[in-house]
Amino acid sequence: MKTAPARPEAAPAPAPPVRRARARRLLMCRPTTFEVSYAINPWMDPAVPVDAALATAQWERLYRLYLALGHQVELIEALPGLPDMVYAANGATVVDGKVLGARFRNAERAAEGAAYLDWFRAHGFTEIHDPLHINEGEGDLLTCDSFILAGWGFRTAPEAHREVEAVFGRPVIPLELVDPRFYHLDTALAVLDGDEIMYHPEAFEPRSRALLRRLFPDALLADRADAEAFGLNAMSDGLNVVLPRAAEGLARQLAERGFNPIGVDLSELLKGGGNVKCCTLELRAPALGQ
Ligand code: ARG
Repeated sequence: MKTAPARPEAAPAPAPPVRRARARRLLMCRPTTFEVSYAINPWMDPAVPVDAALATAQWERLYRLYLALGHQVELIEALPGLPDMVYAANGATVVDGKVLGARFRNAERAAEGAAYLDWFRAHGFTEIHDPLHINEGEGDLLTCDSFILAGWGFRTAPEAHREVEAVFGRPVIPLELVDPRFYHLDTALAVLDGDEIMYHPEAFEPRSRALLRRLFPDALLADRADAEAFGLNAMSDGLNVVLPRAAEGLARQLAERGFNPIGVDLSELLKGGGNVKCCTLELRAPALGQ
Protein backbone atom coordinates (compact mmCIF):
# COMPACT_ATOMS: atom_id res chain seq x y z
CA MET A 1 0.00 0.00 0.00
CA LYS A 2 1.28 3.40 -0.97
CA THR A 3 1.52 6.10 1.61
CA ALA A 4 0.48 9.61 0.66
CA PRO A 5 3.44 11.93 0.14
CA ALA A 6 3.99 14.23 3.06
CA ARG A 7 2.27 17.55 2.42
CA PRO A 8 4.03 20.71 3.48
CA GLU A 9 2.31 22.07 6.55
CA ALA A 10 0.15 25.09 5.71
CA ALA A 11 1.14 28.04 7.87
CA PRO A 12 -1.60 28.53 10.47
CA ALA A 13 -3.63 31.69 9.84
CA PRO A 14 -2.63 34.38 12.32
CA ALA A 15 -5.19 34.77 15.10
CA PRO A 16 -7.32 37.89 14.63
CA PRO A 17 -6.73 40.64 17.18
CA VAL A 18 -8.91 40.69 20.27
CA ARG A 19 -11.55 43.36 19.73
CA ARG A 20 -13.15 45.51 22.40
CA ALA A 21 -16.41 47.40 22.17
CA ARG A 22 -16.55 50.93 23.51
CA ALA A 23 -19.95 52.42 24.37
CA ARG A 24 -20.84 55.40 22.22
CA ARG A 25 -23.15 58.35 22.46
CA LEU A 26 -25.23 58.61 19.31
CA LEU A 27 -27.85 60.91 17.85
CA MET A 28 -30.70 59.55 15.74
CA CYS A 29 -33.86 60.93 14.17
CA ARG A 30 -37.05 58.84 13.96
CA PRO A 31 -38.28 58.79 10.34
CA THR A 32 -41.64 60.40 11.12
CA THR A 33 -41.48 62.73 8.11
CA PHE A 34 -39.47 60.42 5.85
CA GLU A 35 -40.48 60.05 2.21
CA VAL A 36 -38.79 60.21 -1.17
CA SER A 37 -40.34 63.29 -2.75
CA TYR A 38 -37.26 64.55 -4.61
CA ALA A 39 -34.09 63.00 -6.04
CA ILE A 40 -30.69 64.39 -5.05
CA ASN A 41 -28.72 61.16 -5.39
CA PRO A 42 -28.96 58.25 -7.85
CA TRP A 43 -30.67 55.96 -5.31
CA MET A 44 -33.71 58.22 -4.96
CA ASP A 45 -36.69 57.84 -7.25
CA PRO A 46 -39.92 59.56 -6.18
CA ALA A 47 -41.83 57.14 -8.44
CA VAL A 48 -40.85 54.18 -6.23
CA PRO A 49 -43.24 53.90 -3.28
CA VAL A 50 -41.85 53.93 0.26
CA ASP A 51 -43.54 51.87 2.96
CA ALA A 52 -43.55 54.40 5.81
CA ALA A 53 -44.61 51.88 8.45
CA LEU A 54 -41.85 49.50 7.40
CA ALA A 55 -39.30 52.34 7.36
CA THR A 56 -40.24 53.13 10.96
CA ALA A 57 -40.13 49.48 12.04
CA GLN A 58 -36.70 49.01 10.46
CA TRP A 59 -35.39 52.20 12.06
CA GLU A 60 -36.80 51.14 15.48
CA ARG A 61 -34.93 47.86 15.20
CA LEU A 62 -31.67 49.70 14.58
CA TYR A 63 -32.37 52.03 17.51
CA ARG A 64 -33.09 49.15 19.87
CA LEU A 65 -30.05 47.27 18.63
CA TYR A 66 -27.81 50.20 19.59
CA LEU A 67 -29.39 50.31 23.05
CA ALA A 68 -28.92 46.56 23.43
CA LEU A 69 -25.24 46.98 22.50
CA GLY A 70 -24.90 49.43 25.39
CA HIS A 71 -24.84 52.70 23.47
CA GLN A 72 -26.52 55.85 24.65
CA VAL A 73 -28.87 57.12 21.95
CA GLU A 74 -30.22 60.68 21.91
CA LEU A 75 -33.12 61.64 19.67
CA ILE A 76 -33.88 64.70 17.59
CA GLU A 77 -37.38 65.21 16.27
CA ALA A 78 -37.87 65.28 12.48
CA LEU A 79 -39.42 68.48 11.18
CA PRO A 80 -42.22 68.50 8.63
CA GLY A 81 -40.99 69.22 5.12
CA LEU A 82 -37.55 67.75 5.87
CA PRO A 83 -37.89 64.09 4.83
CA ASP A 84 -34.12 63.47 4.85
CA MET A 85 -33.69 64.52 8.48
CA VAL A 86 -33.66 60.83 9.40
CA TYR A 87 -30.09 60.74 8.03
CA ALA A 88 -28.68 62.18 11.24
CA ALA A 89 -25.07 61.58 10.20
CA ASN A 90 -25.38 64.63 7.97
CA GLY A 91 -26.56 66.93 10.76
CA ALA A 92 -23.15 67.90 12.18
CA THR A 93 -19.69 66.64 13.09
CA VAL A 94 -18.83 66.23 16.76
CA VAL A 95 -15.27 65.57 17.91
CA ASP A 96 -13.92 66.10 21.45
CA GLY A 97 -17.28 67.63 22.38
CA LYS A 98 -16.89 70.36 19.74
CA VAL A 99 -19.67 70.72 17.20
CA LEU A 100 -19.30 71.85 13.61
CA GLY A 101 -22.74 72.35 12.10
CA ALA A 102 -23.65 71.25 8.59
CA ARG A 103 -24.33 73.38 5.55
CA PHE A 104 -26.12 71.43 2.86
CA ARG A 105 -25.42 71.47 -0.87
CA ASN A 106 -29.07 71.00 -1.88
CA ALA A 107 -31.85 73.49 -1.14
CA GLU A 108 -34.16 70.62 -0.19
CA ARG A 109 -32.04 69.92 2.92
CA ALA A 110 -30.84 73.45 3.74
CA ALA A 111 -33.11 73.93 6.77
CA GLU A 112 -31.71 70.82 8.46
CA GLY A 113 -28.51 72.69 9.31
CA ALA A 114 -30.26 75.05 11.74
CA ALA A 115 -32.51 72.31 13.11
CA TYR A 116 -29.52 70.24 14.16
CA LEU A 117 -27.65 73.27 15.54
CA ASP A 118 -30.69 74.09 17.69
CA TRP A 119 -30.60 70.57 19.12
CA PHE A 120 -26.95 70.95 20.12
CA ARG A 121 -27.59 74.35 21.73
CA ALA A 122 -30.44 72.86 23.74
CA HIS A 123 -28.43 69.83 24.86
CA GLY A 124 -25.51 71.32 26.71
CA PHE A 125 -22.95 71.59 23.91
CA THR A 126 -21.03 74.82 24.43
CA GLU A 127 -18.52 74.90 21.59
CA ILE A 128 -20.69 75.15 18.51
CA HIS A 129 -19.50 76.41 15.13
CA ASP A 130 -21.86 77.59 12.42
CA PRO A 131 -20.07 76.55 9.21
CA LEU A 132 -18.97 78.95 6.49
CA HIS A 133 -18.57 76.34 3.78
CA ILE A 134 -20.69 73.48 2.55
CA ASN A 135 -20.14 70.34 4.59
CA GLU A 136 -22.59 67.50 5.08
CA GLY A 137 -21.48 66.42 8.53
CA GLU A 138 -20.35 62.90 9.17
CA GLY A 139 -21.65 61.95 5.75
CA ASP A 140 -18.33 63.28 4.45
CA LEU A 141 -16.21 63.81 7.58
CA LEU A 142 -15.13 60.58 9.21
CA THR A 143 -12.96 60.67 12.31
CA CYS A 144 -10.28 58.12 13.04
CA ASP A 145 -7.56 58.39 15.70
CA SER A 146 -5.01 60.29 13.63
CA PHE A 147 -7.09 62.14 11.04
CA ILE A 148 -10.40 63.43 9.89
CA LEU A 149 -11.04 61.84 6.52
CA ALA A 150 -12.89 64.31 4.31
CA GLY A 151 -14.83 63.26 1.23
CA TRP A 152 -15.39 65.83 -1.51
CA GLY A 153 -16.52 65.88 -5.13
CA PHE A 154 -20.29 65.66 -4.74
CA ARG A 155 -21.46 67.36 -1.56
CA THR A 156 -18.88 68.77 0.88
CA ALA A 157 -16.86 71.63 -0.59
CA PRO A 158 -13.07 71.27 -0.46
CA GLU A 159 -13.01 74.80 1.03
CA ALA A 160 -14.55 73.29 4.18
CA HIS A 161 -11.47 71.21 4.88
CA ARG A 162 -9.47 74.06 6.36
CA GLU A 163 -12.44 75.03 8.50
CA VAL A 164 -12.71 71.45 9.78
CA GLU A 165 -9.01 71.41 10.62
CA ALA A 166 -9.27 74.75 12.45
CA VAL A 167 -12.28 73.68 14.52
CA PHE A 168 -11.06 70.27 15.57
CA GLY A 169 -7.29 70.67 15.43
CA ARG A 170 -6.80 67.35 13.67
CA PRO A 171 -5.21 66.84 10.27
CA VAL A 172 -7.77 66.58 7.50
CA ILE A 173 -7.17 64.14 4.66
CA PRO A 174 -9.10 65.15 1.52
CA LEU A 175 -10.43 62.20 -0.47
CA GLU A 176 -12.04 62.76 -3.84
CA LEU A 177 -15.15 60.73 -4.62
CA VAL A 178 -15.82 59.95 -8.29
CA ASP A 179 -18.81 57.58 -8.47
CA PRO A 180 -22.18 59.36 -8.05
CA ARG A 181 -23.64 56.30 -6.33
CA PHE A 182 -21.07 56.78 -3.58
CA TYR A 183 -21.73 60.49 -3.19
CA HIS A 184 -20.92 60.75 0.51
CA LEU A 185 -17.70 59.42 2.04
CA ASP A 186 -19.71 57.26 4.46
CA THR A 187 -21.10 55.27 1.52
CA ALA A 188 -17.58 54.28 0.45
CA LEU A 189 -15.53 54.10 3.65
CA ALA A 190 -16.04 53.31 7.33
CA VAL A 191 -13.82 53.63 10.38
CA LEU A 192 -13.73 50.33 12.24
CA ASP A 193 -11.50 51.10 15.21
CA GLY A 194 -8.68 53.54 15.92
CA ASP A 195 -6.96 53.99 12.57
CA GLU A 196 -8.41 50.83 11.05
CA ILE A 197 -10.78 51.40 8.14
CA MET A 198 -12.62 49.59 5.36
CA TYR A 199 -13.35 51.09 1.94
CA HIS A 200 -14.23 50.51 -1.69
CA PRO A 201 -11.23 51.69 -3.77
CA GLU A 202 -13.13 52.32 -7.02
CA ALA A 203 -15.25 55.01 -5.36
CA PHE A 204 -12.13 57.22 -5.17
CA GLU A 205 -10.17 59.19 -7.71
CA PRO A 206 -6.82 57.40 -8.38
CA ARG A 207 -4.69 59.84 -6.38
CA SER A 208 -7.00 59.55 -3.38
CA ARG A 209 -6.93 55.78 -3.82
CA ALA A 210 -3.13 55.84 -3.70
CA LEU A 211 -3.23 58.02 -0.60
CA LEU A 212 -5.58 55.63 1.17
CA ARG A 213 -3.32 52.72 0.25
CA ARG A 214 -0.33 54.55 1.71
CA LEU A 215 -2.01 55.74 4.92
CA PHE A 216 -3.97 52.56 5.58
CA PRO A 217 -1.99 49.66 4.08
CA ASP A 218 -3.90 47.10 6.17
CA ALA A 219 -7.38 48.38 5.40
CA LEU A 220 -10.16 45.95 4.63
CA LEU A 221 -11.19 46.38 0.98
CA ALA A 222 -14.83 45.99 0.01
CA ASP A 223 -15.79 44.73 -3.44
CA ARG A 224 -18.36 46.34 -5.71
CA ALA A 225 -21.26 44.08 -4.67
CA ASP A 226 -20.79 44.80 -0.97
CA ALA A 227 -20.32 48.52 -1.60
CA GLU A 228 -23.49 48.64 -3.74
CA ALA A 229 -25.33 46.91 -0.90
CA PHE A 230 -24.25 49.91 1.22
CA GLY A 231 -22.04 47.61 3.28
CA LEU A 232 -19.63 50.44 4.02
CA ASN A 233 -22.41 52.52 5.51
CA ALA A 234 -21.69 50.76 8.78
CA MET A 235 -21.38 51.67 12.43
CA SER A 236 -18.55 50.06 14.38
CA ASP A 237 -18.00 50.29 18.14
CA GLY A 238 -14.63 48.56 17.92
CA LEU A 239 -16.13 45.08 18.13
CA ASN A 240 -19.69 45.09 16.81
CA VAL A 241 -20.10 46.31 13.26
CA VAL A 242 -23.71 47.03 12.35
CA LEU A 243 -24.12 46.93 8.57
CA PRO A 244 -26.71 46.08 5.91
CA ARG A 245 -27.46 42.36 5.94
CA ALA A 246 -27.03 42.15 2.17
CA ALA A 247 -23.28 42.88 2.44
CA GLU A 248 -22.50 39.23 3.10
CA GLY A 249 -18.94 39.16 1.79
CA LEU A 250 -18.00 42.12 3.91
CA ALA A 251 -19.53 40.51 7.00
CA ARG A 252 -17.34 37.47 6.38
CA GLN A 253 -14.21 39.61 6.00
CA LEU A 254 -15.05 41.48 9.20
CA ALA A 255 -15.51 38.24 11.13
CA GLU A 256 -12.11 37.02 9.90
CA ARG A 257 -10.60 40.15 11.45
CA GLY A 258 -12.19 39.46 14.81
CA PHE A 259 -15.14 41.84 14.50
CA ASN A 260 -18.71 40.86 15.22
CA PRO A 261 -20.75 41.84 12.14
CA ILE A 262 -24.46 42.38 12.80
CA GLY A 263 -26.61 42.53 9.68
CA VAL A 264 -29.74 44.70 9.60
CA ASP A 265 -32.28 45.51 6.91
CA LEU A 266 -33.06 49.17 6.20
CA SER A 267 -34.55 48.62 2.73
CA GLU A 268 -36.93 51.59 2.97
CA LEU A 269 -34.26 54.05 4.07
CA LEU A 270 -32.05 52.80 1.26
CA LYS A 271 -34.64 54.28 -1.12
CA GLY A 272 -33.46 57.68 0.10
CA GLY A 273 -29.84 56.72 -0.50
CA GLY A 274 -28.92 55.97 3.09
CA ASN A 275 -28.39 53.09 5.45
CA VAL A 276 -27.03 52.30 8.93
CA LYS A 277 -24.34 54.96 9.25
CA CYS A 278 -26.43 57.65 7.56
CA CYS A 279 -29.00 57.24 10.33
CA THR A 280 -26.36 57.57 13.05
CA LEU A 281 -24.41 60.61 14.20
CA GLU A 282 -21.68 59.93 16.73
CA LEU A 283 -21.35 62.47 19.55
CA ARG A 284 -17.69 62.20 20.44
CA ALA A 285 -17.02 63.75 23.80
CA PRO A 286 -13.94 63.60 25.99
CA ALA A 287 -16.07 62.28 28.87
CA LEU A 288 -16.66 59.09 26.94
CA GLY A 289 -12.99 58.71 26.25
CA GLN A 290 -12.96 59.79 22.64
N1 ARG B 1 -31.29 61.57 0.63
C1 ARG B 1 -30.14 61.96 1.40
C2 ARG B 1 -29.24 62.83 0.56
O1 ARG B 1 -29.11 62.60 -0.61
C3 ARG B 1 -29.41 60.76 1.90
C4 ARG B 1 -28.30 61.08 2.84
C5 ARG B 1 -27.55 59.86 3.29
N2 ARG B 1 -26.68 60.16 4.33
C6 ARG B 1 -25.39 59.81 4.42
N3 ARG B 1 -24.75 60.07 5.50
N4 ARG B 1 -24.76 59.25 3.40
O2 ARG B 1 -28.64 63.76 1.04
